[in-house]
Amino acid sequence: MKKIFSAAIVGAMLFLTGCGASTSPAPSSSSSGSAEKQPTIGVAIYKFDDTFMTGVRNAISTAAQGKATVDIVDSQNSQPTQNDKVDLFLNKKVNALAINPVDLTAAGVIIDKAKAANTPVVFFNRQPLASDMKKWDKVYYVGAKAEESGIMQGQILVDYWKAHPEMDTNKDGIMDVVILQGEPGHPDAIARTKYSVQAIQDAGIKVNILAQDTAMWDRSKAQDKMAAFLGAQGNKIEAVLANNDDMALGAIEALKAKGYFANGKYMPVVGVDATAPGLQALKDGTLLGTVLNDAKNQGTATLNLAVALSKGLTPNKDNSGYDIADGQYVWVPYKKITKANMSDAQ
Ligand code: GAL
Repeated sequence: MKKIFSAAIVGAMLFLTGCGASTSPAPSSSSSGSAEKQPTIGVAIYKFDDTFMTGVRNAISTAAQGKATVDIVDSQNSQPTQNDKVDLFLNKKVNALAINPVDLTAAGVIIDKAKAANTPVVFFNRQPLASDMKKWDKVYYVGAKAEESGIMQGQILVDYWKAHPEMDTNKDGIMDVVILQGEPGHPDAIARTKYSVQAIQDAGIKVNILAQDTAMWDRSKAQDKMAAFLGAQGNKIEAVLANNDDMALGAIEALKAKGYFANGKYMPVVGVDATAPGLQALKDGTLLGTVLNDAKNQGTATLNLAVALSKGLTPNKDNSGYDIADGQYVWVPYKKITKANMSDAQ
């Protein structure tokens, strides 16, 4: 009796083990149900250690629920690493790629490989060259028009300048600014730097750039750069333009160390992204303004396009939820954010 009983248990265990072995592991980001019918999307982010891109990454995972299995990898800010990840995705025969390039000029090679494997690609956040985009009709780009964000940053400073004549501390009628830039060569860094200044000039205000340098989108690098600017320029600085919120927050730390944001000492600082820490700084009154870089819609559009392409569809408003411009582009709008309309970004 005992023997029969233990044999039954062993049999049941073997049956269960057998079932386990034949069941594929739970997909990383899909809801239960028809997982086997869902496409697999290989997603490569330029680096995980980036506040804004973490928001986009989370939005992709959320949008994938019930629609796709997403395999999201960290390219660790290295194009060779990203190329290896792309090769692995293609060997695994993913149904589509979603790539945030480390170096946008590498997009051409990625497109060649993807085309050879007939695997559609959606690039996002770093816009490939138009000549590369034209290499294949199953290549798309999701992003935002960076000049819009620069213009909005400039307008925030113009509004402040007009409402607060004391901002012109040396009373020369010229806005003396320092600029903290993203990576050299990054289209967003170039456009935000150029158009923020141009928007101030377009409002009839002269601008003097006291200093500008890259802080690589990074908060602590920006803190160091801002400390150096303050050391060299003393009290001449009247405003800080940062190409993103992380760098604006770094600048605010350096300013605090010099007594700003206390006892009536103030410096207008403007960023881009409207990240959670950026919004907190708006609330605290240290960050004057930012621009919503819509991570949620950029991530969702990227995922939806990749899913449509995986199914052999040509993406359109009906199957992706987003307007396609010039056959290959989804443009997600920016929005000016100050303390007054913070809830629009939350
Ligand atoms: C920008 C964003 C930056 C950084 C960069 C990475 O659009 O504003 O904070 O995330 O993308 O490419």
